[in-house]
Amino acid sequence: METATISRHDFFRLVGTSVGVILLSNCSMGCSRQENSGPTPVDQKVDFTLRLADQANENLRVKGGYVIANDIIVAQSKEGKFIAVSANCTHEGTQLTYKSAENQFFCPLHLSRFDTAGNVVMGPAAKPLVQYLTVVDMAAGTIRIHS
Ligand code: FES
Repeated sequence: METATISRHDFFRLVGTSVGVILLSNCSMGCSRQENSGPTPVDQKVDFTLRLADQANENLRVKGGYVIANDIIVAQSKEGKFIAVSANCTHEGTQLTYKSAENQFFCPLHLSRFDTAGNVVMGPAAKPLVQYLTVVDMAAGTIRIHS
């Protein structure tokens, strides 16, 4: 019976190539995983306008009311004054609500609270929300939300 032999040089060349392929595929899988699980970029340009006359925005017509649009929560905190912050909790991404009695944003899942500027009032969330600027045009009945 004949046995196949392989030179030491060929053996290491073949094994080295295989290890390289394995490491390369693990790296590319790891890199793509990191891209998918990273935080949402906060430097995205935001600029949109809500019309108070629209049915979807009727809650904004009353003091203490709020709506969520484009992952941003917009609330009328005082008569004719509007505030806007990112709508998802920085702890685990739960959609926030606005509590007019406390003038704070509230996470229903683990009870984090944020002030009107998006700063953490109570954890477990540790990072602030993104705050957006609001421009009210009462004559036109619009609220512009922008970064
Ligand atoms: S998801 Fe909001 S506090 Fe946990």
